[in-house]
Amino acid sequence: MLVLGIETSCDETGVALYDNQRGLLAHALYTQAALHADYGGVVPELASRDHIRRVLPLTREVLDKASRPLADVGAVAYTQGPGLAGALLVGASVAQGLAYALGVPALGIHHLEGHLLSPLMTKPAPEFPFVALLVSGGHSQLMRINGIGNYEVLGETLDDAAGEAFDKTAKLLGLGYPGGPELAALARKGTPGLVKLPRPMLHSKDLDFSFSGLKTAVVMQVKERALDATARANIAAEFQAAIVDVLVAKSLSALEQCGVSHLVVAGGVGANTELRSRLKHAGERGGFNVYFPPAEFCTDNGAMIAFAAALRLRDARGTLQKTDGAFSVKPRWNLASLPRV
Ligand code: KG4
Ligand code: ZN
Repeated sequence: MLVLGIETSCDETGVALYDNQRGLLAHALYTQAALHADYGGVVPELASRDHIRRVLPLTREVLDKASRPLADVGAVAYTQGPGLAGALLVGASVAQGLAYALGVPALGIHHLEGHLLSPLMTKPAPEFPFVALLVSGGHSQLMRINGIGNYEVLGETLDDAAGEAFDKTAKLLGLGYPGGPELAALARKGTPGLVKLPRPMLHSKDLDFSFSGLKTAVVMQVKERALDATARANIAAEFQAAIVDVLVAKSLSALEQCGVSHLVVAGGVGANTELRSRLKHAGERGGFNVYFPPAEFCTDNGAMIAFAAALRLRDARGTLQKTDGAFSVKPRWNLASLPRV
């Protein structure tokens, strides 16, 4: 079956076509980063309006790339939440409209389920159960994944998400939005350890995180002295090292606590090359396997939504009805409340 997936939860419009026999056929992404750059963060109303402009042309592009007519689509999936209400409504209404016109099922997918199942798109795929480190702009969680829809939260951030900490620190260092990739690029020019930043909750016995103190420590550095380019690069390098130290240590504790040997890393911060290489080395030393989605599928995209829907549909065995066109979005949505497959 062909599944069309539409992602519009924040500032990326993503569309993809997934075939449950042949895998991902095509995907297309439009990022609104430039639209929001002047504001230093996502402006929800601008985001919604831009999704309206992009979603149908991207759908057409994906169908053309895959050389498949719209009529071949057997189900339409969309991000139902969590995310910005107006942005979610765009993807949901377009997906439901297309599904209704085609007389096929429409499936609302949880954005974070999309992220955490995305490493299963590539071979070799991790086996259940695995530990997932989900680190995005809005979430930082360690989870035990027992199966599709069977997710146990082991620990989470008490304040800022890892990506949010990257974004806020990048802003303090005068970098553009989104800050994560820019800060990572600046960190490559600096040396960690010359400036000392804390590793919050590194030795706490639980699997929770806290990143807002780290950002405050950078505020102090920025306030104390005028920073030249080298000093800024050194702070960026130390900041990245601090976050990565904590994420690696807590991931290792989670694997030990669960007695499992597969770690999946998902979400935008999973694109960070320092985090990827540190976890890869830790896995080689510690005898566990680490799985990352390809970098292009770490940040928001339509492929993960189409893929999560294809997994759910595979197990629904034809019980799903064609849509009646009624729908709602869930700007807040607890991952643990999803139905198990
Ligand atoms: O998963 P995502 O695309 O959107 C959310 O669902 O939040 O994650 C976006 C976050 C942003 O905070 C961005 O700065 C961060 O991921 N990010 C990175 C990198 N690429 C994206 N953080 C650190 N290093 C990167 N290379
Ligand atoms: Zn995301």
